[in-house]
Amino acid sequence: MRIEMPKYMERLGALKIYELQKVLELSGGKSSGVKGDVPGTINISSVDLEEIISDMTIIIPVKDENPKVLEGVLSGIPHDALLVIVSNSRREPIDRYRIELDTVFQFYRLTHRPFLMIHQRDLAWSDALTEAGYPYLLGEDGIVRNGKGEGMVLGLLISKYLGRKYVGFIDSDNYIPGAVNEYVNIYAAGFYMSKSPYTMVRIKWPYKTKFVGKRFYFRRRGRVSEITNKFMNLLVARITKFETDIIKTSNAGEHAMTLELVDRIGYSSGFSIEPYQIVYMLEEYTGIKTPPQFREVYEKGLEIYQIEPRNPHIHEERDESHIPEMMKHSLSTIYHSVLADESIKTLIERELISRGALKPGEKIPRPKTYPPLIKTSTNKMFKTLEESAETLIIRGF
Ligand code: GDD
Repeated sequence: MRIEMPKYMERLGALKIYELQKVLELSGGKSSGVKGDVPGTINISSVDLEEIISDMTIIIPVKDENPKVLEGVLSGIPHDALLVIVSNSRREPIDRYRIELDTVFQFYRLTHRPFLMIHQRDLAWSDALTEAGYPYLLGEDGIVRNGKGEGMVLGLLISKYLGRKYVGFIDSDNYIPGAVNEYVNIYAAGFYMSKSPYTMVRIKWPYKTKFVGKRFYFRRRGRVSEITNKFMNLLVARITKFETDIIKTSNAGEHAMTLELVDRIGYSSGFSIEPYQIVYMLEEYTGIKTPPQFREVYEKGLEIYQIEPRNPHIHEERDESHIPEMMKHSLSTIYHSVLADESIKTLIERELISRGALKPGEKIPRPKTYPPLIKTSTNKMFKTLEESAETLIIRGF
């Protein structure tokens, strides 16, 4: 895979945020590196990509998706990545989780891909998370809350137990297996380029593609992400005192991290999780908080790569009704940041009101946040799940 080298980077305390890099060739030849090669680019051979992928867990959050689409997603994930599927699909009147499980089993029989699958609302999580010292995901009823963010954190806790060095997310509603394959290779390419044990790779979809009339329409920007990026960049400017447009991936559902970083950032509920990760890193790792919670990250630095694939993103199009809520949750992470001053807050309120996501005078709710995973005991958690989870299925490892 050949990728543009970033020409520009913003450095804020321990954070290095690289400008957007584009994939130039899906396969760029068998020699890796930058020396003697095309200037301004880096090539990572498939051998080097596969080496990294064989130390990677891929988490797939699922909620009521078409099993055929899920099967396509599985087929796109390179063979040596470990699959962790966390589903929050309905179990009644039809048990959609069982249908998904049949799909995954069939895939397993045909490919022998190791996988672990569990339901987000399995009652065993209650004891397992309490044992782990991470009960924060449980609602008042003692069951894990609904929400994509919550499902993702469960996946991270399992990945922490499994112990592979890298962890990535892939949405389960992607129609193009080739795009999925590219995303995972991009994760590996980012980790190849990084020099720090604390690294995040975020994907910026080039186009969100819709079928309109008789042809595809390639929309360059997502509605929510464009607005979140604008405010996230204002937040960065509050630290540097220089305006910037460095952040292009505030809402990147597709992203990956080193396990070392997984332990050292905070998370949040539902669709606010992706922007909150950035807000957390800006608050924790730019030097405004003293003493720092994780001194080791300041010693080694934290690198954030943002990479644009070649494949368009064609996914399940839901009705538009959830967009204002998604926007509100997304912007609430910035609004309630300690870095946000009154002027950003006012601008966010105006933006949400103008888009019908907030009524005049209504308060923007604080996002529900979850602490870093570093202190959790995932061995105890996993033992409890193995003993009592009704929906836990493990094959191949
Ligand atoms: N486990 C679990 N639990 N998975 C969920 C849940 C949940 O409560 N809710 C949604 N998912 C899964 C879906 O099945 C899908 O695979 C993925 O999470 C994304 O959910 P969608 O509902 O399809 O979100 P979207 O496509 O509108 O938004 C995506 O893109 C945004 C950026 O534009 C998501 O990745 C967002 O997180 C992202 O911000």
